[in-house]
Amino acid sequence: MHTCRRYFSGLLRSAALLTLLSAGALHAAEKRDLIIDTDPGADDVVALLLALASPQELNVLAITTVAGNVRIDKTSRNARLAREWAGREDVPVYAGAGRPLVRSPIYAENIHGKEGLPGVDVHEPAKPLATGNAVQYLVDTLSKAAPHSITIAMLGPQTNLALALVQAPEITQGIKEVVVMGGAHFNGGNITPVAEFNIYADPDAAKVVLASGVKLTYVPLDVTHKILTSDSRIRQLEGLNNQAGKLVSSILNEYVKADMIHYGLPGGPVHDASVIAWLLKPELFSGRSVNLVIDNREGPGFGQTIADWYDTLAQNKNVFWVGNGDAQGFFDLLTQRLGRLK
Ligand code: RIB
Ligand code: CA
Repeated sequence: MHTCRRYFSGLLRSAALLTLLSAGALHAAEKRDLIIDTDPGADDVVALLLALASPQELNVLAITTVAGNVRIDKTSRNARLAREWAGREDVPVYAGAGRPLVRSPIYAENIHGKEGLPGVDVHEPAKPLATGNAVQYLVDTLSKAAPHSITIAMLGPQTNLALALVQAPEITQGIKEVVVMGGAHFNGGNITPVAEFNIYADPDAAKVVLASGVKLTYVPLDVTHKILTSDSRIRQLEGLNNQAGKLVSSILNEYVKADMIHYGLPGGPVHDASVIAWLLKPELFSGRSVNLVIDNREGPGFGQTIADWYDTLAQNKNVFWVGNGDAQGFFDLLTQRLGRLK
């Protein structure tokens, strides 16, 4: 009798789940082929660990690196470190652009440290870079990909993708969507009063990507500054009692100090990992389609992203702008996935 009741209650639960899924009430994240373009960077490493710990949803085809937080040799080393810490040396790392398209290079060693990875010791990872440049990898892969099949997560300056689009505009055929950590509207900037670092570091590249017409989602400071660390959230990560939890809590403890002081915040953002969380659990976030314009003119507005949130100008809505997110939901997801790693 008891077995029979258990059988039927299980049947009812599965039927209920199927009903919710079919009604779209539960956003079961579809499995995606994903390329992560990144400038590790403290929050980039957290994003890479989160992505590499989620193989059911994210088939990470490759990591492509770009100069940004620190120079290309160190962003590429740090990407290889994240891959090693995640136990995912199956994923190739291709080094890309060492400088922006036009403007003079800028870095963020004051935030990410000389090695681009605060709070932890770095070493030379065992596995080397893949041969070939990241830009050529993007051109070759996206040209041959099934139509609109590959998602690209852009966690740094958008130089690599911009160069690939200039070299081979037809690669848009292989792109499902591009999800960008970048920009700021309501929040204001973090490198100038109006500009966010990734855009400010290469606004011309961001304009090339925006003009390409690919499906584009921005995860700006407007939302990342609402998803902040706290003592309890750091303790949550430390409580994993594994290497990944220790690494991420140590990195974040050091990384968020500058933002907490600058903004007078009780915690700091984990910008890039918010992009991966969007891909894994979009229901944690909300936003709207807006018209986005990027200012690349010399002057006080250089690198500014103007998001027409209230549709004042009634222009075409060329990006989905994420404006809000569930902070505790983000940290619960991050903790649960890092718990899968060693
Ligand atoms: O403004 C935050 C962004 O700039 C993040 O991607 C961080 O890693 C830096 O690249
Ligand atoms: Ca980054």
